[in-house]
Amino acid sequence: FQPKVLAGRHVLVTAGPTFEAMDPIRGITNHSSGKMGFAIARAAREAGARVTLVAGPVHLGTPRGVDRVDVQSARQMLAATEAAAKDADIFVATAAVADWRPANHSDQKIKKDGSGQAPTLAFVENPDILLAMAQSERARSGALFCVGFAAESENLVAHAKAKRERKGIPLLVGNIGPLTFGQDDNALLLVDADGVRELPRAAKQVLARELVAEIAVRARASGRK
Ligand code: C5P
Repeated sequence: FQPKVLAGRHVLVTAGPTFEAMDPIRGITNHSSGKMGFAIARAAREAGARVTLVAGPVHLGTPRGVDRVDVQSARQMLAATEAAAKDADIFVATAAVADWRPANHSDQKIKKDGSGQAPTLAFVENPDILLAMAQSERARSGALFCVGFAAESENLVAHAKAKRERKGIPLLVGNIGPLTFGQDDNALLLVDADGVRELPRAAKQVLARELVAEIAVRARASGRK
């Protein structure tokens, strides 16, 4: 008999892209499939945790036993994350949150006016959900263990280390290139205070189980329990 490593824990995961509307019909988004985040949510549940999965618009079924909250925009994702983080022990930010949203949202469809002039889109910055969580009282006190992700097109190790410092989080996970979207496999780079470790290429669900085990060990070492 092996006790489940996350029994009694509440794990919060963000996954997928966000969709930032400019009118009721159009908006900007990105190619995130949500597969890695959903795999982590499934693995955390298998490890005995209660799991809240805050998902942007994706085409994926909800893993068995996982509480799913669907959102569209970064601001909705932040609100849902803040609500669930109140009693979460571990936060894993896999979502590809849009860095910017259109500055003006039109309640009606923006129409061509026949002048041949295209509208100009202005953007404002979205909230950084991971940064907000990492700076929260619960994270600072060690009650909430925060894990970030990084997808880079170059210099992954240097960027991952820098991102971990900038966000002030104990563990940063880098997607080892090439940048692929919707693939079923991946390779990960784990960056923590002790250094860098690679989880070699494997199916996302296999990697998710390995990553959840790594997170459980670190969260136990750093947390209240
Ligand atoms: O700052 P950058 O987008 O490169 O950092 C990526 C990490 O931060 C990911 O874990 C992502 O989920 C998280 N993030 C976030 N909110 C944002 C931007 C990124 O939670 N607005």
